[in-house]
Amino acid sequence: MSGAREQFGSRIGFILAAAGSAVGIGNLVGFPVGAAKNGGGAFLLMYAIFVVAICLPVMLAEMSVGRHARKDPLGAYRDLSNNATHWKLAGWLSIITPFMIAVFYLVITVWIFGYLYEIITGDLDILANPDTFGTFINSEKIFVYMAGVVAVVYLILQGGVKEGIEKAAKLLMPTLFIMLLLLVGFVLMQDNAMKGVEFYLVPDFSKINASVINGALSQAFFSLSLGMGIMITYGSYIDKRADVPGSAKLVALTDTAVAFTAGLMILPAIFSFDPNTNPDELSESSIGMIFTFLPKIFLALQDSIGYVGASIVAAIFFLQVFFAAITSLVSIFEVPVAALMDEKDMGRKPALFVLGVLMVVLAVLCALSFGYNAFLTEFVSYAGAKKSFFDVVYDVFYDTILPLNGFLICIFVIYRWKKHNFNKALDEGAENYKGSFFEKYVDVSVGTFIPVILLLVFINTVAVKYFGHSLFG
Ligand code: PFF
Repeated sequence: MSGAREQFGSRIGFILAAAGSAVGIGNLVGFPVGAAKNGGGAFLLMYAIFVVAICLPVMLAEMSVGRHARKDPLGAYRDLSNNATHWKLAGWLSIITPFMIAVFYLVITVWIFGYLYEIITGDLDILANPDTFGTFINSEKIFVYMAGVVAVVYLILQGGVKEGIEKAAKLLMPTLFIMLLLLVGFVLMQDNAMKGVEFYLVPDFSKINASVINGALSQAFFSLSLGMGIMITYGSYIDKRADVPGSAKLVALTDTAVAFTAGLMILPAIFSFDPNTNPDELSESSIGMIFTFLPKIFLALQDSIGYVGASIVAAIFFLQVFFAAITSLVSIFEVPVAALMDEKDMGRKPALFVLGVLMVVLAVLCALSFGYNAFLTEFVSYAGAKKSFFDVVYDVFYDTILPLNGFLICIFVIYRWKKHNFNKALDEGAENYKGSFFEKYVDVSVGTFIPVILLLVFINTVAVKYFGHSLFG
């Protein structure tokens, strides 16, 4: 759209919006369980190193490209490469990837919203039955919940960057932090909670192997919403005086702190429910944890705080996950919306409408692929397993493409946009960064070992996912 580009109204607004994107379902459930199963403190340490040494520099690359080009990812790759065709391809990948991730993330957010609604209306006992989830995801009510979630996302995004995204983040993120702390406080007071804390934090270095290392890096990468075009797009909404490295550090710190704190909620809850839990046997999937395991744990609280009390705790938990999911969904959907506005000179509302319709159609296809429709349920088969339409979207866009996009942005900033331009862009507005050790580190790493590592992760994921072989034995 012509006219001045929309902007975040304040530094804190930008940081909260970017942290809102980064803090998602992965932080609240996936991270704690992954950490407990894969070496506890040893995993945490490795994760923190990956965040600082690999992910933060990539985040700087994405944000600075966005801020400099003041465009959506496609426009940014095009403009900064002087219209080179192959870089436009990278731009397209940065638009299609978030769009497809938004499709499957919408489906999961709809389930969360549905569970929240059912808990509030008094049905926690039904949700605690392990068979409920399978029936729930194939019921027609899903489409009603989907309409609710789409309406919330639409309402936020139609307000634009400052009045929509920023305002929502300023309201939802602090509320989320408070709910998280309340739940941690409550859970830590339960019997056997400390056993869970112990399991979460005591390092077990014997668990660390190549696949755990790969998993920790991938987790850190997608937890910071990298490779999805989000940080390029949000970066395009900040002005030249903003301190990009300082803001990126705070986003990474918030994301990691939330993930870490969530572990102090999830693991003590699991152990207070059953002190003999063997974490190795816990499902790695966040979906299984959220929708079948945790409702059972919440219901068990009725012995000490009654059914209403247990439902309140469960509702706070699901509300918190819902807030985390909504701010992530908003950020990822903004990417194709920004692209349509920038590239086709479209207004925000028509762009939202066109992409919203397309997204809902694809999300409905995903929602029908859990048994409701045979063709979508057994869509394709690879590496010896049948995959549904939902599985394919998840595997290709969430699990595979992200490190490739990370590789491309690194190569782009150093070898096409050029290192001195990248450095100059980062220095703008960041007095403390200029001449710092971190600047020197970013300068070297983004053009050398970071893209190499990301490319290896990408190749290994393709080998494992689609051919059933790992490069690392
Ligand atoms: N950082 C998010 C998470 O940890 O869940 C990753 C994400 C996923 C962001 C999906 C946005 C999104 F739509």
